[in-house]
Amino acid sequence: MSEGLITAAYIIAAILFIASLNGLSSQETAQKGNIYGIIGMTLAIVATIGAMINAGNAGAWTYSLVAILMIIGAGIGIRLATKVEMTSMPELIAILHSFVGLAATIIGFNSYLDHDLLFGAAKTIHNVEVFLGVFIGAVTFTGSLVAFGKLSGKINSSALALPGKNWINIIAIASSAILLIGFISGGWGLTALILMALIALAFGWHLVASIGGADMPVVVSMLNSYSGWAAAATGFMLSNDLLIIIGALVGSSGAILSYIMCKAMNRSFVSVILGGFGNEVFADTGDKDYGTHYETNAQEVADALAAAKNIVIVPGYGMAVAQAQYPVAELTKRLRAKGKNVRFGIHPVAGRLPGHMNVLLAEAKVPYDIVLEMDEVNDDLSDTDVVLVIGANDTVNPAANEPGTPISGMPVLSVWEASKVIVFKRSMGVGYAGVQNPLFFKDNTEMLLGDAKDSVTQILANI
Ligand code: TAP
Repeated sequence: MSEGLITAAYIIAAILFIASLNGLSSQETAQKGNIYGIIGMTLAIVATIGAMINAGNAGAWTYSLVAILMIIGAGIGIRLATKVEMTSMPELIAILHSFVGLAATIIGFNSYLDHDLLFGAAKTIHNVEVFLGVFIGAVTFTGSLVAFGKLSGKINSSALALPGKNWINIIAIASSAILLIGFISGGWGLTALILMALIALAFGWHLVASIGGADMPVVVSMLNSYSGWAAAATGFMLSNDLLIIIGALVGSSGAILSYIMCKAMNRSFVSVILGGFGNEVFADTGDKDYGTHYETNAQEVADALAAAKNIVIVPGYGMAVAQAQYPVAELTKRLRAKGKNVRFGIHPVAGRLPGHMNVLLAEAKVPYDIVLEMDEVNDDLSDTDVVLVIGANDTVNPAANEPGTPISGMPVLSVWEASKVIVFKRSMGVGYAGVQNPLFFKDNTEMLLGDAKDSVTQILANI
């Protein structure tokens, strides 16, 4: 493969990745975006193998090894992609980020050991690239492992609050900076790199462990950003322009997404990327008396819907667990056919990944124009006859408007302002952030307890 062809392939792949990101920004174009990404990545892999052949420093054994590893990797990827449930997607993303971090760390060490023939400024620049690559990679690796553990429920999702946690972070960064000086000035060599890697591994673990469950959506996109910068640093080490471009695209888009999510959740961006810097940790003692709740049934809900004109449906994680989007879409269709104004109100962090609810509703063919964002629907809730809260909890919790809870300050859908609220869930248990929901005990709230899919199906039978 000629050098010119490889460069052209890299440029086309980079353009395809930009087009892919652009496509993924809206539901209508998301499928196209995915296809651009797949073509871009295929081109990138072919061109990289072409560059490897051109360099001529690899034997037949290396090519066979690359082929074997690619087949194993593709096999695992296909199996995961076909088996993983939508609700487990965030933890899959977290574990994949950890692979990027681990790869950047290993490549950093390899690159350091492989470039001992460099001199002068070239050596200093390369050493800085190696140091940053290993640092970001190691932080991403352990941070992502902790995020995986928290999201999959394997470790406690509450925020770890070690005494002097901010000082621990500051000392980790300061000692890594000192090691960097020792490393580039030449004296401390591999020892400095190993010491910094150990500090970065502990730092990444502590950073994410210090962030509470309710802020995990931001952490996932922040780790996405870190993994991008780790890839970009690897690109510098390997002098691979495409990897630098892709890394920068992932890094900056992840950072922008984190920023948007922080704004949507009313969180400080700096606080979240610094592992909950300055956050107080609250404990729900669980002994507060919220009063009594009213339990309804499918027939009563069907009657309430028959009498209503304006209806808002607020879906959450429970709708995804129950796979209730299809009966919910059918219910929407029937109510609209009866001339009722039915709309959906989507909280930015409803479910377990950005856009989770939108994807499920699109899959069930709910028209896009009735699926509104929280800010578009919140002001109309006081003029709404019935709100159906289907498997949502934290995102409709009025406790967010009070101080002293893990979700305090997070904007929520003020469903309690509607004339009637019907909450579909299986028990009176808490949501993801572990906070009890006073909505369930309000006078205008009725609880329809049971699996959301069964409940909606029973309502359909009564309509
Ligand atoms: P949650 O607060 O997680 O509440 C979901 C509710 O669904 C639970 O109270 C649960 O109650 C109910 N449920 C579960 N299975 C059900 C079923 N089969 N049928 C009926 N109900 C069922 O949901 P939310 O309001 O969507 O809020 C999302 C939370 O996840 C936020 O705290 C957010 O910060 C966090 N989070 C979001 C993301 C992103 S990016 N979206 C990523 C990670 C974490 P029962 O068990 O009683 O049924």
